[in-house]
Amino acid sequence: MNRVTSILGIKYPLVQGPMSWLTDAKFVAAVSNAGGLGILGPNAGQHTVTTSADETAQRMREQIKQVQQLTDQPFAVTLIVAGGSTSIFTQKILAVVIAEHVPVVLLNSLGGVDSAAYGVDPATMATLKAHGIKTVVRSLQPSLKDAQAVEAQGADIYVATGFDEGGTMPGGELGAFAIMPLIADAVQLPVLLAGGIGDARTVQAAFALGAEGVFVGSRLIPTVENPAADNVKQLIVDSTAEDLALFRTQPDYYRSLPTKLREQLIENDRTLPAAQAKLANAKLMGGTSGMRLGMLAGDFEHGYVSVGTGISMVHAIQPVQAVVDELMQGYPQA
Ligand SMILES: Cc1cc2nc3c(=O)[nH]c(=O)nc-3n(C[C@H](O)[C@H](O)[C@H](O)COP(=O)(O)O)c2cc1C
Repeated sequence: MNRVTSILGIKYPLVQGPMSWLTDAKFVAAVSNAGGLGILGPNAGQHTVTTSADETAQRMREQIKQVQQLTDQPFAVTLIVAGGSTSIFTQKILAVVIAEHVPVVLLNSLGGVDSAAYGVDPATMATLKAHGIKTVVRSLQPSLKDAQAVEAQGADIYVATGFDEGGTMPGGELGAFAIMPLIADAVQLPVLLAGGIGDARTVQAAFALGAEGVFVGSRLIPTVENPAADNVKQLIVDSTAEDLALFRTQPDYYRSLPTKLREQLIENDRTLPAAQAKLANAKLMGGTSGMRLGMLAGDFEHGYVSVGTGISMVHAIQPVQAVVDELMQGYPQA
């Protein structure tokens, strides 16, 4: 037991990162049943985009109900809360979270872009606290001041994200080894490390750097229960961090394994001034549609495959339980 397991009511201090399109009810329940905390992310369980806030909330309600059928363990839902405001999408999902008694929420905030962006929307935090819902905060741009602001707001857990991660990467460009002790030394609340967790050694390194748990995304994609396409899972198994290429996009950077689309993204980054490259690449990536095509549908022509640098340690497609057990081998001794 440590502070993370007792706050969240879970066996292992391992939290699964939300991944757009790739964190559906079946997968999330598998993580929670394995002893970690599963989190439903954006577009959970979907294959199509909706621009309706009502439909988005209804889709999330169905996913929550499915998780509840598949596990009696705690799980979480992601809410996007940037600075001092929330969107109608966030408000509607929050209402569903309360109505369906979801025990934990992952708050996605902007973080240290500027002082106005530190911390999370105070009204959302107050509502969650009033309903006894635990809060894990992960900022797009983690920083010392953001962590302190989040702590002052009464969050339960903060996530320090290193540049090693998959998905949208922090513009601060600090690797996991730099960001983790920086934040852990500045706050009292428990901090999880996100970015580059690939095996038991990296979990133990996270603990050595001051983390009280790990926040894991890419390592959990090549699993039996993850909805990613089979060719994506195999590509991850067959690749190492050396196969990843970094390119600019909005807000800062992404990286991808080789695909046809990636060639264009790299070319833009190489040939255009930074601001133009960001715009051109964000357009090419089409919001999260490049991720849906590349990772959910396995279309290596029109999509990309975004993962973190921890993939060098992945050697097989395994059940979630086996991966979680392997990662947590050193716990509680760690
Ligand atoms: C394919 C992919 C999609 C992601 N999508 C999201 C997302 O929609 N929202 C979010 O907050 N984080 C997202 N992330 C970040 C993860 O939640 C997590 O922070 C990250 O994967 C941790 O680094 P790792 O991949 O090295 O384990 C995504 C990551 C990946 C790999």
